[in-house]
Amino acid sequence: MALLPRLLLVALLLVAVTGEADAGGAGHGQARYDRVFSFGDSLTDTGNSAILPVTAGGPFTNPPYGQTHFGRPNGRASDGRLVIDFIVESLGLPPPTPYLAGKTAVDFLHGANFAVGGATALDPAFLQSRGITSFVPVSLSNQTSWFNGVLQLLDSTGNGQRKIMASSLLYLGEIGFNDYSFVAVFGNGTVGLAQSLVPHIVGAIRSVLTVSRVLWPVNSADHTHPS
Ligand SMILES: *[C@@H]1O[C@H](CO)[C@@H](O)[C@H](O)[C@H]1NC(C)=O
Ligand SMILES: *[C@@H]1O[C@H](CO)[C@@H](O)[C@H](O)[C@H]1NC(C)=O
Repeated sequence: MALLPRLLLVALLLVAVTGEADAGGAGHGQARYDRVFSFGDSLTDTGNSAILPVTAGGPFTNPPYGQTHFGRPNGRASDGRLVIDFIVESLGLPPPTPYLAGKTAVDFLHGANFAVGGATALDPAFLQSRGITSFVPVSLSNQTSWFNGVLQLLDSTGNGQRKIMASSLLYLGEIGFNDYSFVAVFGNGTVGLAQSLVPHIVGAIRSVLTVSRVLWPVNSADHTHPS
């Protein structure tokens, strides 16, 4: 099991792809954002898995979750705030709406959080082809297609969408840990099987960054460190 912490470390990825610094807002020497779009698993989920039928009512919906900060369970797999909460707070933004809690453009004016507890980087069908059953049917490709849907809701024109993205922070939280842990829990538990997933998981994460490069053509290159 010593492999897992190391894999987690490798999978840990925080990418802030900045848009152009908004002319009106560089007051504190930092770019000003109007909203955050975030992706990931339970380390970033602020309410989706409490709504998703397969995970609703899970342990995180009961005390002591939420006791340190919110005073009640609030959909986070934590007794307090998550890293995404601190980032949003320090930017002075309202928290992004958990994707499954919103419907209309108005719901997502302050961004959207697509992260789902238990989500995998790889698609359930791919994992299944390796003998790994995932118990939460949400992968990075679901999250990116949800993201495209929200962008379309907010503005149906390419130009409008580029404008939105120029003032948005993209937060790619940790993802991939569940893929590896499901090898142990639902797969054949071999290190070889876990290792065989590595290039695929890295590729799935990279594909999100590629999407973001298309949408943030201006200065995305200097914030990522492809290895
Ligand atoms: C575990 O699963 C992988 C992928 O299906 C396979 O290549 C490997 O031979 C399996 N190992 C054992 C010990 O069953
Ligand atoms: C995620 O995508 C897969 C494949 O398109 C789909 O079968 C599944 O229902 C999606 N999950 C959710 C929660 O929408």
